[in-house]
Amino acid sequence: MRRVRLGFAGREVEFVDREQALRQVEDWVNRGMALPRVVYGREGCGKTAWLRQGAELLRELGFDVIYVNPIELAFTVELGVEDVRNKLLSLIREAISQIAWGRVVWSIIGIARSAIEAGTRKLAIIVDDAFQVIGIDKVAIYVKGLLGILEHPPASYDKVIAITATSEGVSRREIGRHLWARLIPMWNMIREGFEQLYEQLPGNKPDFEDVWRLTGGNPRILGELYEVNWVADKVISELINDKEITPDLIRKWANHLREAVGDPDYLWYNAPGELVDELVRRNLILFPLPSRDPDPVD
Ligand SMILES: Nc1ncnc2c1ncn2[C@@H]1O[C@H](COP(=O)(O)OP(=O)(O)O)[C@@H](O)[C@H]1O
Ligand SMILES: [Mg+2]
Repeated sequence: MRRVRLGFAGREVEFVDREQALRQVEDWVNRGMALPRVVYGREGCGKTAWLRQGAELLRELGFDVIYVNPIELAFTVELGVEDVRNKLLSLIREAISQIAWGRVVWSIIGIARSAIEAGTRKLAIIVDDAFQVIGIDKVAIYVKGLLGILEHPPASYDKVIAITATSEGVSRREIGRHLWARLIPMWNMIREGFEQLYEQLPGNKPDFEDVWRLTGGNPRILGELYEVNWVADKVISELINDKEITPDLIRKWANHLREAVGDPDYLWYNAPGELVDELVRRNLILFPLPSRDPDPVD
Protein backbone atom coordinates (compact mmCIF):
# COMPACT_ATOMS: atom_id res chain seq x y z
CA MET A 1 0.00 0.00 0.00
CA ARG A 2 1.26 3.44 -0.89
CA ARG A 3 1.74 5.57 2.19
CA VAL A 4 0.07 8.96 1.85
CA ARG A 5 1.96 12.15 2.62
CA LEU A 6 0.46 14.41 5.22
CA GLY A 7 0.95 17.94 6.40
CA PHE A 8 2.45 17.92 9.85
CA ALA A 9 3.92 20.82 11.85
CA GLY A 10 4.45 22.93 8.74
CA ARG A 11 6.18 20.13 6.82
CA GLU A 12 5.28 16.95 5.03
CA VAL A 13 5.55 13.53 6.64
CA GLU A 14 4.76 10.02 5.57
CA PHE A 15 1.86 8.26 7.23
CA VAL A 16 3.18 5.98 9.97
CA ASP A 17 1.85 3.12 12.07
CA ARG A 18 -1.85 2.43 12.74
CA GLU A 19 -1.48 -1.13 11.50
CA GLN A 20 -4.43 -2.33 13.49
CA ALA A 21 -6.69 0.49 12.33
CA LEU A 22 -5.81 -0.26 8.70
CA ARG A 23 -6.45 -3.96 9.23
CA GLN A 24 -9.82 -2.87 10.51
CA VAL A 25 -10.58 -1.27 7.15
CA GLU A 26 -9.59 -4.48 5.37
CA ASP A 27 -11.82 -6.40 7.70
CA TRP A 28 -14.79 -4.21 6.81
CA VAL A 29 -14.05 -4.86 3.18
CA ASN A 30 -13.90 -8.61 3.72
CA ARG A 31 -16.89 -8.98 5.97
CA GLY A 32 -19.04 -6.18 4.63
CA MET A 33 -20.60 -3.40 6.65
CA ALA A 34 -24.10 -3.60 8.06
CA LEU A 35 -23.97 -0.33 10.01
CA PRO A 36 -22.08 2.87 9.20
CA ARG A 37 -19.14 3.57 11.48
CA VAL A 38 -18.70 6.78 13.41
CA VAL A 39 -15.13 7.16 14.58
CA TYR A 40 -14.68 9.48 17.51
CA GLY A 41 -11.58 10.52 19.34
CA ARG A 42 -9.78 13.43 20.87
CA GLU A 43 -8.89 16.33 18.60
CA GLY A 44 -5.58 15.69 16.90
CA CYS A 45 -5.40 11.99 17.75
CA GLY A 46 -5.04 11.09 14.08
CA LYS A 47 -8.52 10.42 12.68
CA THR A 48 -8.07 12.42 9.51
CA ALA A 49 -4.63 10.94 8.85
CA TRP A 50 -6.01 7.43 9.20
CA LEU A 51 -9.05 8.16 7.03
CA ARG A 52 -6.81 9.54 4.29
CA GLN A 53 -4.62 6.47 4.39
CA GLY A 54 -7.77 4.35 4.58
CA ALA A 55 -9.14 6.07 1.46
CA GLU A 56 -5.91 5.20 -0.34
CA LEU A 57 -6.14 1.59 0.80
CA LEU A 58 -9.74 1.34 -0.38
CA ARG A 59 -8.84 2.84 -3.72
CA GLU A 60 -6.12 0.23 -4.12
CA LEU A 61 -8.70 -2.44 -3.29
CA GLY A 62 -10.78 -1.30 -6.24
CA PHE A 63 -13.27 0.98 -4.53
CA ASP A 64 -14.69 4.18 -5.81
CA VAL A 65 -14.01 6.64 -3.02
CA ILE A 66 -15.72 9.82 -1.90
CA TYR A 67 -13.75 11.60 0.81
CA VAL A 68 -14.72 15.04 2.08
CA ASN A 69 -13.49 17.09 4.97
CA PRO A 70 -15.32 20.40 5.22
CA ILE A 71 -13.18 21.66 8.09
CA GLU A 72 -9.90 21.24 6.24
CA LEU A 73 -11.53 22.14 2.90
CA ALA A 74 -10.20 18.86 1.54
CA PHE A 75 -11.82 16.33 -0.73
CA THR A 76 -11.08 13.54 -3.14
CA VAL A 77 -13.65 12.08 -5.43
CA GLU A 78 -12.83 8.92 -7.32
CA LEU A 79 -16.10 7.90 -8.86
CA GLY A 80 -16.24 5.83 -11.99
CA VAL A 81 -19.64 7.17 -13.00
CA GLU A 82 -18.70 10.35 -14.73
CA ASP A 83 -21.81 12.48 -14.50
CA VAL A 84 -22.27 11.62 -10.81
CA ARG A 85 -18.65 12.55 -10.19
CA ASN A 86 -19.05 15.80 -12.08
CA LYS A 87 -22.18 16.66 -10.16
CA LEU A 88 -20.39 16.23 -6.83
CA LEU A 89 -17.32 18.12 -8.02
CA SER A 90 -19.39 21.06 -9.15
CA LEU A 91 -21.24 21.11 -5.82
CA ILE A 92 -17.89 21.13 -4.03
CA ARG A 93 -16.55 23.93 -6.19
CA GLU A 94 -19.67 25.95 -5.49
CA ALA A 95 -19.33 25.22 -1.76
CA ILE A 96 -15.76 26.42 -1.71
CA SER A 97 -16.75 29.69 -3.33
CA GLN A 98 -19.79 30.20 -1.12
CA ILE A 99 -18.59 28.55 2.06
CA ALA A 100 -21.58 26.24 1.85
CA TRP A 101 -20.10 22.93 2.91
CA GLY A 102 -23.23 21.89 4.73
CA ARG A 103 -24.87 21.43 1.33
CA VAL A 104 -22.04 19.25 0.10
CA VAL A 105 -22.15 17.08 3.19
CA TRP A 106 -25.87 16.57 2.77
CA SER A 107 -25.52 15.94 -0.95
CA ILE A 108 -23.10 13.05 -0.37
CA ILE A 109 -25.96 10.75 0.56
CA GLY A 110 -27.82 11.42 -2.68
CA ILE A 111 -24.62 11.28 -4.71
CA ALA A 112 -23.69 7.90 -3.24
CA ARG A 113 -27.15 6.59 -4.07
CA SER A 114 -26.88 7.86 -7.63
CA ALA A 115 -23.48 6.21 -8.01
CA ILE A 116 -24.89 2.86 -6.89
CA GLU A 117 -27.89 3.29 -9.12
CA ALA A 118 -25.56 3.94 -12.05
CA GLY A 119 -23.74 0.67 -11.41
CA THR A 120 -20.94 1.35 -8.90
CA ARG A 121 -20.37 -1.96 -7.12
CA LYS A 122 -17.72 -1.02 -4.58
CA LEU A 123 -18.11 2.36 -2.95
CA ALA A 124 -16.46 4.01 0.06
CA ILE A 125 -18.08 7.09 1.55
CA ILE A 126 -15.83 8.88 4.01
CA VAL A 127 -17.16 12.04 5.60
CA ASP A 128 -14.61 13.55 7.92
CA ASP A 129 -15.46 16.20 10.52
CA ALA A 130 -18.87 16.81 9.01
CA PHE A 131 -20.87 17.34 12.12
CA GLN A 132 -19.57 20.81 12.83
CA VAL A 133 -20.96 22.04 9.51
CA ILE A 134 -24.31 20.27 9.58
CA GLY A 135 -25.00 20.96 13.26
CA ILE A 136 -24.94 18.57 16.17
CA ASP A 137 -28.74 18.34 16.23
CA LYS A 138 -28.74 16.82 12.73
CA VAL A 139 -26.03 14.24 13.33
CA ALA A 140 -28.32 11.33 14.01
CA ILE A 141 -30.42 11.95 10.93
CA TYR A 142 -27.30 12.15 8.78
CA VAL A 143 -26.09 8.83 10.07
CA LYS A 144 -29.52 7.40 9.35
CA GLY A 145 -29.10 8.59 5.76
CA LEU A 146 -25.86 6.63 5.51
CA LEU A 147 -27.53 3.58 6.99
CA GLY A 148 -30.24 3.93 4.35
CA ILE A 149 -27.59 3.55 1.64
CA LEU A 150 -26.40 0.28 3.16
CA GLU A 151 -29.83 -1.10 3.92
CA HIS A 152 -31.98 0.17 1.11
CA PRO A 153 -29.70 0.86 -1.83
CA PRO A 154 -31.30 1.91 -5.10
CA ALA A 155 -29.56 -1.03 -6.84
CA SER A 156 -27.50 -3.98 -5.71
CA TYR A 157 -23.85 -3.52 -4.79
CA ASP A 158 -20.90 -5.67 -3.75
CA LYS A 159 -19.47 -3.57 -0.93
CA VAL A 160 -20.28 -0.22 0.56
CA ILE A 161 -18.15 1.26 3.33
CA ALA A 162 -19.50 4.33 5.15
CA ILE A 163 -17.36 6.07 7.74
CA THR A 164 -17.66 9.43 9.44
CA ALA A 165 -15.37 10.93 12.06
CA THR A 166 -15.96 13.39 14.84
CA SER A 167 -14.11 14.97 17.74
CA GLU A 168 -17.31 16.32 19.19
CA GLY A 169 -18.17 14.47 22.37
CA VAL A 170 -21.69 15.83 22.11
CA SER A 171 -22.26 14.32 18.67
CA ARG A 172 -21.30 10.95 20.07
CA ARG A 173 -24.13 11.24 22.56
CA GLU A 174 -26.54 12.12 19.77
CA ILE A 175 -25.56 9.05 17.80
CA GLY A 176 -25.42 6.76 20.79
CA ARG A 177 -29.11 7.33 21.45
CA HIS A 178 -30.03 5.49 18.26
CA LEU A 179 -28.89 2.21 16.79
CA TRP A 180 -28.13 3.56 13.34
CA ALA A 181 -24.35 3.39 13.47
CA ARG A 182 -21.58 1.71 15.33
CA LEU A 183 -19.44 4.09 17.35
CA ILE A 184 -15.77 3.27 17.48
CA PRO A 185 -13.16 5.06 19.53
CA MET A 186 -9.82 6.12 18.19
CA TRP A 187 -7.01 6.66 20.65
CA ASN A 188 -3.80 8.62 20.52
CA MET A 189 -0.89 6.80 18.91
CA ILE A 190 0.94 3.92 20.49
CA ARG A 191 4.46 4.56 21.65
CA GLU A 192 6.31 2.95 18.73
CA GLY A 193 4.28 4.71 16.05
CA PHE A 194 4.49 8.00 17.87
CA GLU A 195 8.24 7.67 18.13
CA GLN A 196 8.45 7.26 14.34
CA LEU A 197 6.64 10.55 13.95
CA TYR A 198 8.88 12.23 16.53
CA GLU A 199 11.93 10.94 14.62
CA GLN A 200 10.66 12.66 11.47
CA LEU A 201 10.96 16.08 13.15
CA PRO A 202 14.31 17.75 12.55
CA GLY A 203 16.52 19.73 14.89
CA ASN A 204 17.20 19.54 18.60
CA LYS A 205 14.45 17.83 20.46
CA PRO A 206 13.72 17.08 24.10
CA ASP A 207 14.06 13.43 25.09
CA PHE A 208 11.41 11.22 23.67
CA GLU A 209 10.36 10.24 27.21
CA ASP A 210 9.51 13.87 28.02
CA VAL A 211 7.63 14.35 24.78
CA TRP A 212 5.66 11.17 25.33
CA ARG A 213 4.70 12.29 28.83
CA LEU A 214 3.67 15.76 27.65
CA THR A 215 1.59 14.62 24.69
CA GLY A 216 0.27 11.22 25.70
CA GLY A 217 0.86 10.20 22.10
CA ASN A 218 -1.30 12.93 20.53
CA PRO A 219 0.28 13.83 17.18
CA ARG A 220 -1.26 17.29 16.91
CA ILE A 221 0.14 18.32 20.30
CA LEU A 222 3.50 16.99 19.13
CA GLY A 223 3.32 19.24 16.07
CA GLU A 224 2.32 22.22 18.20
CA LEU A 225 5.22 21.67 20.60
CA TYR A 226 7.59 21.50 17.67
CA GLU A 227 6.21 24.74 16.27
CA VAL A 228 6.77 26.66 19.52
CA ASN A 229 10.25 25.23 19.89
CA TRP A 230 9.18 22.85 22.63
CA VAL A 231 8.08 25.55 25.08
CA ALA A 232 5.29 23.52 26.61
CA ASP A 233 3.82 26.45 28.56
CA LYS A 234 2.94 28.15 25.30
CA VAL A 235 0.89 25.20 24.12
CA ILE A 236 -0.76 24.99 27.50
CA SER A 237 -1.78 28.66 27.55
CA GLU A 238 -3.14 28.37 24.02
CA LEU A 239 -5.20 25.41 25.13
CA ILE A 240 -6.48 27.38 28.13
CA ASN A 241 -7.59 30.19 25.82
CA ASP A 242 -9.06 28.01 23.11
CA LYS A 243 -11.00 25.89 25.55
CA GLU A 244 -12.14 28.89 27.55
CA ILE A 245 -10.81 27.57 30.80
CA THR A 246 -11.65 30.73 32.70
CA PRO A 247 -10.61 31.60 36.26
CA ASP A 248 -14.26 31.17 37.22
CA LEU A 249 -14.33 27.66 35.90
CA ILE A 250 -11.11 26.78 37.67
CA ARG A 251 -12.26 28.31 40.93
CA LYS A 252 -15.51 26.41 40.75
CA TRP A 253 -13.99 23.02 40.07
CA ALA A 254 -10.40 23.27 41.33
CA ASN A 255 -10.69 20.54 43.94
CA HIS A 256 -12.29 18.03 41.62
CA LEU A 257 -9.88 18.88 38.79
CA ARG A 258 -6.88 18.39 41.03
CA GLU A 259 -8.17 14.95 41.96
CA ALA A 260 -8.83 14.13 38.30
CA VAL A 261 -5.34 15.12 37.19
CA GLY A 262 -3.90 12.74 39.80
CA ASP A 263 -6.33 9.98 38.95
CA PRO A 264 -8.46 10.30 35.79
CA ASP A 265 -10.78 7.55 37.03
CA TYR A 266 -11.97 10.09 39.54
CA LEU A 267 -14.05 11.68 36.80
CA TRP A 268 -15.75 8.41 36.13
CA TYR A 269 -16.67 7.54 39.69
CA ASN A 270 -16.67 10.62 41.85
CA ALA A 271 -16.92 13.88 39.94
CA PRO A 272 -20.19 15.82 39.65
CA GLY A 273 -22.06 15.27 36.40
CA GLU A 274 -22.07 19.01 35.74
CA LEU A 275 -18.26 19.10 35.62
CA VAL A 276 -18.12 16.07 33.35
CA ASP A 277 -20.61 17.73 30.98
CA GLU A 278 -18.53 20.91 30.90
CA LEU A 279 -15.43 18.94 29.99
CA VAL A 280 -17.21 16.91 27.30
CA ARG A 281 -18.68 20.07 25.80
CA ARG A 282 -15.19 21.56 25.52
CA ASN A 283 -13.88 18.32 24.03
CA LEU A 284 -11.41 17.95 26.84
CA ILE A 285 -12.42 14.45 27.82
CA LEU A 286 -14.22 11.49 26.36
CA PHE A 287 -16.94 10.26 28.62
CA PRO A 288 -17.82 7.55 29.28
CA LEU A 289 -14.47 6.11 28.43
CA PRO A 290 -14.80 3.03 26.24
CA SER A 291 -12.83 -0.04 27.22
CA ARG A 292 -9.64 -0.48 25.29
CA ASP A 293 -9.67 -3.83 23.61
CA PRO A 294 -6.26 -4.77 22.21
CA ASP A 295 -7.88 -6.94 19.56
CA PRO A 296 -11.26 -5.41 18.79
CA VAL A 297 -13.68 -7.08 16.42
CA ASP A 298 -14.71 -3.57 15.50
N1 LIG B 1 -0.33 8.05 11.52
C1 LIG B 1 0.15 9.27 11.24
N2 LIG B 1 1.24 9.43 10.46
C2 LIG B 1 1.70 10.67 10.17
N3 LIG B 1 1.15 11.81 10.61
C3 LIG B 1 0.06 11.73 11.38
C4 LIG B 1 -0.49 10.46 11.74
N4 LIG B 1 -1.56 10.67 12.53
C5 LIG B 1 -1.69 12.00 12.63
N5 LIG B 1 -0.71 12.64 11.95
C6 LIG B 1 -0.56 14.12 11.84
O1 LIG B 1 -0.88 14.69 13.11
C7 LIG B 1 -1.72 15.83 12.99
C8 LIG B 1 -3.05 15.60 13.72
O2 LIG B 1 -3.72 14.48 13.14
P1 LIG B 1 -5.19 14.53 12.50
O3 LIG B 1 -5.34 13.32 11.67
O4 LIG B 1 -5.44 15.83 11.82
O5 LIG B 1 -6.09 14.44 13.81
P2 LIG B 1 -7.68 14.47 13.97
O6 LIG B 1 -8.29 14.34 12.62
O7 LIG B 1 -7.99 13.32 14.87
O8 LIG B 1 -8.00 15.78 14.66
C9 LIG B 1 -1.88 16.06 11.49
O9 LIG B 1 -0.91 16.98 11.07
C10 LIG B 1 -1.61 14.68 10.89
O10 LIG B 1 -1.13 14.79 9.56
MG1 LIG C 1 -9.59 15.59 11.60
